[in-house]
Amino acid sequence: MKKTAIVTGGSRGIGFAIARRLGLDGFAVVIFATTPEEKNKENLKLLEADGTEYHYVQGNIGSTEDRRRLVDEAVSRFGGIHVLVNNAGVAPKVRGDLLEMTEESFDYVIGINTKGTMFLTQAVANQMLKQPMVGKKRGTIVNVSSCSAEVSSVNRGEYCVSKAGVSMLTTLYADRLAREDILVHEVRPGVISTDMTAGVHEKYESLIEQGIFPIARWGTPEDVAGAVSAFCGDAFLYTTGNYIDIDGGFHIKRL
Ligand SMILES: NC(=O)c1ccc[n+]([C@@H]2O[C@H](COP(=O)([O-])OP(=O)(O)OC[C@H]3O[C@@H](n4cnc5c(N)ncnc54)[C@H](OP(=O)(O)O)[C@@H]3O)[C@@H](O)[C@H]2O)c1
Repeated sequence: MKKTAIVTGGSRGIGFAIARRLGLDGFAVVIFATTPEEKNKENLKLLEADGTEYHYVQGNIGSTEDRRRLVDEAVSRFGGIHVLVNNAGVAPKVRGDLLEMTEESFDYVIGINTKGTMFLTQAVANQMLKQPMVGKKRGTIVNVSSCSAEVSSVNRGEYCVSKAGVSMLTTLYADRLAREDILVHEVRPGVISTDMTAGVHEKYESLIEQGIFPIARWGTPEDVAGAVSAFCGDAFLYTTGNYIDIDGGFHIKRL
């Protein structure tokens, strides 16, 4: 049987690069995103050209019903779920000072990035428990957090809190699921060129020119996808609850 990977937010950006890479690695891929399938035809055609079997589920990770439907459709279409990549995420609609942040914006970002990830992981883990081991593990879960899990940006505090929460989810699920032969990993992207960073392109461009990142360029979605792919294979069988920075060395403290 072909192994199946769910990639949330797999319609574009980092998630699409991950979906594409996992398809090339031999997974059947289930893409979950808010926009209709037709809107993402251009990217989906690339998956078809790669020969990747995929299924598209439109929904909101913040909705209990949509998460349940995602799991049900993945299982009925492909017979099981072997990999979950928790990539879907949003930035605040408006960047604003911490002292002005609204509860509405906090709830919006946390509801998708943290609560959605928490409960989709719970649903998928419970599904994986019903399935037999395939090879050396029962399943793999990879969380896409951010350097913002640790780095303070006082103009988008809700995002930082949401990603710090995702990192704790990595720890918690890694601890609980190790005994079930399900491994949980985390990737922490730095600044990656996608729609999410398009609005602040000039700011980051100038920071890169000033040398903020030891590897002096934008990260690409494919940079992140490569690390996720390694976690989803058999290269890290005695590792769980760890993260890797995909940030051009941004995490290095320098003097
Ligand atoms: N870009 C960066 O520099 C960077 C850095 C660190 C971490 N990250 C994280 O990496 C992940 C992907 O970022 P990106 O830059 O690729 O973002 P992006 O280009 O804005 O794409 C976001 C993806 O998430 C989906 N999505 C958004 N809200 C959703 C919801 N409520 N339910 C289901 N799917 C939803 C979108 O689907 P639709 O297109 O259908 O809306 C889209 O596929 C996010 O978690 C982000 O926080 C990004």
